[in-house]
Amino acid sequence: MMSISGRAPRLLFVDSGLGGLTVLSAARNSVPEADVLYIADDAGFPYGSKSDEALAARLFTVIGAGVRDYEPDCIVLACNTASTIALQTLRQNFPIPIVGTVPAVKPAAALTKSGLVSVLATPATVAREYTRCLIKQFGAEARFTLVGAPTLAALAEAHASGAAVDEDAIAREIAPAFVDRDSTRTDVVVLGCTHYPLLLDKLDAAAPWPVAWLDPAPAIARRIANVLAEGGHIVGVGARRGQGEIRFTSGQPPSPALLRLLKSHHLTLPAFEAAFAL
Ligand code: DGL
Repeated sequence: MMSISGRAPRLLFVDSGLGGLTVLSAARNSVPEADVLYIADDAGFPYGSKSDEALAARLFTVIGAGVRDYEPDCIVLACNTASTIALQTLRQNFPIPIVGTVPAVKPAAALTKSGLVSVLATPATVAREYTRCLIKQFGAEARFTLVGAPTLAALAEAHASGAAVDEDAIAREIAPAFVDRDSTRTDVVVLGCTHYPLLLDKLDAAAPWPVAWLDPAPAIARRIANVLAEGGHIVGVGARRGQGEIRFTSGQPPSPALLRLLKSHHLTLPAFEAAFAL
């Protein structure tokens, strides 16, 4: 895929840390030739405990810097906590298409057989008017349980960085998402935080009964492809695999396990790779 200007399309990914990697993986399939700058705002992690005002201000700073440096064709706000508060104002202020991530309420309502769906997300996301409106508008007949998980994103960060995670802690965080009422059980859990698919194996192991975990990443990836096509990028010219770079706002050196993970997502981290000699 090349743009009409002759250069590959550029995607700017932003998340509070590693959660956006789950969206990036899907995007690599839908637009393999796009170049990527991924800003992991780990100095601002967790977004879920910031006030709405502080988070919105931070997003303007982080995205503003990315837009200046990278001149992207599309911004991917790969974070539900950020999208549910700031998507609209960001769109009004940046003249570049922004693809956000918000809880996949509509597909969940279409998928559930039992009629009991849970949205597992950060406490901030489940408290948002935006999320409640989504349910009112698209929840159909399903009954939704909103579960704010205080530390699940941090557990996902630790796991992705190669640290051992406390499986009992995961079980405690997800337990309220499993509702057993009048001999009917939750059968769909919406992963309303981009960090959670990083823990998918562990979520399965900790689940009291099997459920469908709804990861919106493939749908977001399709949206990114459409946005690029609408912007005049032409599919199928040349066979290149896009390049990718990641920047951590903390400037902290990542663990060797994390560097391997980044490499598997075709993301380079020039300042640190040399030091670890990967
Ligand atoms: N990845 C973010 C999301 O999708 C949340 C993590 C955080 O609290 O920073 O909501």
